[in-house]
Amino acid sequence: MAPMRDHRGSIGRHYGGKQFAERILAAAKDAGVDPITPAGLAPADEFHTGGIRSTRELAALAELSAGQSVLDVGCGIGGPARILAAEFGCSVTGIDLMPEFVRSACVLTEACGLSERVTFVEGNALAMPFDDGRFDVAWTQHVVMNIEDRPGFYREAARVLKPGGIFAFFDVLAGSGDPLDYPVPWADRPAISFLYGPDETRAFLADAGFELAAWEDHTERYVNMLSAMPPAPAGAALTLRLVMGDDMPRKTGNMLEAARDGRLTYARAVCRKP
Ligand SMILES: C[S@@+](CC[C@H](N)C(=O)[O-])C[C@H]1O[C@@H](n2cnc3c(N)ncnc32)[C@H](O)[C@@H]1O
Repeated sequence: MAPMRDHRGSIGRHYGGKQFAERILAAAKDAGVDPITPAGLAPADEFHTGGIRSTRELAALAELSAGQSVLDVGCGIGGPARILAAEFGCSVTGIDLMPEFVRSACVLTEACGLSERVTFVEGNALAMPFDDGRFDVAWTQHVVMNIEDRPGFYREAARVLKPGGIFAFFDVLAGSGDPLDYPVPWADRPAISFLYGPDETRAFLADAGFELAAWEDHTERYVNMLSAMPPAPAGAALTLRLVMGDDMPRKTGNMLEAARDGRLTYARAVCRKP
């Protein structure tokens, strides 16, 4: 039987921090972002590799369209959810384990004037407070690396989708299986990092009842992208460092090295619930 622990305490300590929204809004003001828009905040609130570009590309691959109801599982502080509403016309519900992320997501969404179409709830991806068949689309980026019970995660995503619904994700998967160096962006130690390989992941998706519509490996591309990225400046600039903390260069450096030498891979996929 698959393990059901959600490692909430350790994950909370890893992502811990305060006043994310207030610090991001202050940095946006200093950077001259006016008015406050989802794209304007994106340098600091898209908490996954490739930032807003990855969000837009996954939305295009999933063929998101206006009026769809989207669930963003593990939404963080809500950057991707706001982009899906502002640029793709979706109504978005975000769910995240971390109370401070959910609070900050609400504050930033209010600042963007999107609170009617983008809402957030605190909760666990493994037992979501939503009825069966509620959403057109379930979406997740860079969350599953914290989730040990991966079959349970995909079953729960399938449960909340309507028949014909779409499940879209962009995630870090295992590569060679050799151990990572820590910290990485999603974990400060191995106890909260759970990587499964592409074959295992596709088997879990099939067991959850999904039909695979698209599967793309982007490892080489993200290695090139990360290698070319200048380090985020220290201090209060409008960057993801406001969320990831001052050890962001170490975290992203360890991730890049692991991708470069094949210990991890990047995959993007779109599945359909029959
Ligand atoms: C690297 S961040 C990605 C945030 C967001 N998806 C994005 O791309 O901006 C991972 C997020 O997953 C959330 N998370 C981890 N385990 C979770 C769980 N079991 N249920 C809900 N959220 C979870 C964390 O709190 C964190 O916000």
